[in-house]
Formats: sequence, C-alpha cells, structure tokens
Amino acid sequence: MNEQTLVLIKPDGLKKSLTGNVLTRLSETKLEIVAAKITRVSRKLAEEHYYQMRDKPFFEELIKYIRGELHERRKVMAMVYWGEGAINKVRELAGATNPEEADPVSIRGAYGRITTRGVYENVIHTSRNTEEAEREIKLWFAPEEIILDLYPTKTELRKEQKVSVWA
Ligand code: PPS
Repeated sequence: MNEQTLVLIKPDGLKKSLTGNVLTRLSETKLEIVAAKITRVSRKLAEEHYYQMRDKPFFEELIKYIRGELHERRKVMAMVYWGEGAINKVRELAGATNPEEADPVSIRGAYGRITTRGVYENVIHTSRNTEEAEREIKLWFAPEEIILDLYPTKTELRKEQKVSVWA
C-alpha cells in the first residue's frame, strides 16, 4: 500500500553536514520525495509536533533541540516520503529512537548520540504510524507544498492577508 511519512533532518544532522548521507541512505528505499523544505521551527510548531511528550521531564530540552537552540542551527529539513510501505521502510533505515539501542549501521546508530544531559540527539525524526504521519504532515506542510493530493483539501477566501513578495 502506498503511504506517506514525515522525515525531519534535525539541527544536529544539519550541523554535522549529514544531509547528503541521510538522503543517500533513504534513497535505498526507492520511495519518492513529494515535498521538501528547510524551515525554522516556531515554539508553537515544536510543541504541537511533540505534544504527546508534553509531560516528560525532557520535554523542554526536546523543544530546544528541534528548534536548533542546542546547535546554533535554527532550522530543520522537512520532507514527505511517499510509496509502498513508506513508514516502516524509513523507520527501519532510521533505527531505534534511542541512538544507543539503534543498529550501528542505521542512521541513528551511525550518527546519533545521547548527550550528557540525557537528551537523544538522533539526527532524524520519522512518523510512527499512518495517523501520526497525517497529523505531522498537516502540521509541517500546506497542501500546495506537496506535489500529490495526499489528503482532502478545501478552499478558503482570505481577505487582506499580508504577504511578502519580491521587491
Ligand atoms: S517514537 O519514535 O515516536 O516511537 O519514539 P518515542 O520513544 O515515543 O519518543 C518520542 C519522541 O521523544 C524523543 N525522546 C527523547 N528525547 C530526549 N530525551 C529522551 N530521553 C527521549 N526519549 C524520547 C524521541 O527522540 C522521539 O522524538 P523523534 O523526533 O521521533 O526522535
């Protein structure tokens, strides 16, 4: 079954120049990238993305990490991968969430670490299941940023919206 999954290359991955390595590994899956961007992560987006972790003692560190406050890289690379069994194929290559438990040849096993403060710096995020993929993709991308019609859309007329255009 074709499905979609959100992949984030986190600020540690960007700081360590791992984008190429991660994309090369993920290309082994033969999945298609149907959306991609480099983006800043607002506090609101970070908190919504990790809302299930809000009661964990490491929540604040997790928010700082994904926002790039720990790596002087205030950006992440966000992508949607699409194709047969996308969620599991990407999760398999990513490896276990805890970098110490991840297969050493997986992305997290090879490049991730646990900081002395106990925070996982695991290079990439991947969606856990179909429901999470839908929630996360809708959070990170607008419909027009994705080249496939993955989910139903509606049109809204927005009046007097201030937007930047090239001068
Ligand atoms: S998963 O992949 O969603 O099943 O992982 P889960 O174990 O539920 O963890 C959800 C996210 O919380 C992060 N996490 C932690 N961050 C810092 N320190 C500790 N101890 C820790 N434990 C879990 C974990 O990295 C998951 O985020 P992502 O972005 O998916 O890696």
